Amino acid sequence: MKFFLDSANLEEIKRGVALGIIDGVTTNPSLIAKEGYSVDEQIRKICDLIDGDISAAVVSLTAAEMVSEGRRLARIHKNVVVKVPMMPEGIAAVASLAQDGVRTNVTLCFSAAQALIAAKAGAYIVSPFVGRLDDIGVNGLGLIQDIMTIYGNYGFKTQVLAASLRGSLHVIEVAKAGAHIATLPYKVLQTMFGHPLTDKGLEQFLKDHNQSLSLSELVSQ
Ligand code: G3P
Repeated sequence: MKFFLDSANLEEIKRGVALGIIDGVTTNPSLIAKEGYSVDEQIRKICDLIDGDISAAVVSLTAAEMVSEGRRLARIHKNVVVKVPMMPEGIAAVASLAQDGVRTNVTLCFSAAQALIAAKAGAYIVSPFVGRLDDIGVNGLGLIQDIMTIYGNYGFKTQVLAASLRGSLHVIEVAKAGAHIATLPYKVLQTMFGHPLTDKGLEQFLKDHNQSLSLSELVSQ
């Protein structure tokens, strides 16, 4: 399973990269807006930090405009994946970009029918939003399971990227369902490290180590 960071913040990305377990980054217009730079500028900086797929979103609404915006974004760096919203114009843009060899990530996917359409169009990645479905009382994990079944039935190559993950339980659930990628807000990545028994165990190990050190010092005197 690949781990992406769901962030446009350079400090978070640097810290994630230093851990050695991050394979890529997803951004969206809301995340980019928080950083105060243009999309192109921020994406270029992110590409300098990590060698992996970096999703950058188009913000236009017609297929023709999305295609030209997508081509522009793809020229920023070879690792850029063009993020396109799930809508008829977006899907036409995905099909056209796929013919040009431009990789796309179909975002704002909330149903299996939408994911099926994205795969048919030749999307490189589809992004179902788990947390936002849970928020409205719909089973987000169930969507991931349905998409995995459908893609498996037909051998679609489109990778399933579980997005809108709110905690480590979400990550474990989508991993059990076989999602190819989990995109993690930095806070979620941090929570995945924690366990009280790890903290307690480490404290005890260090205490025992220090005690045996002082004992051996005493013996050697
Ligand atoms: O980038 C898409 C997605 O991960 C957004 O998550 O938390 O805004 O629902 P959230």
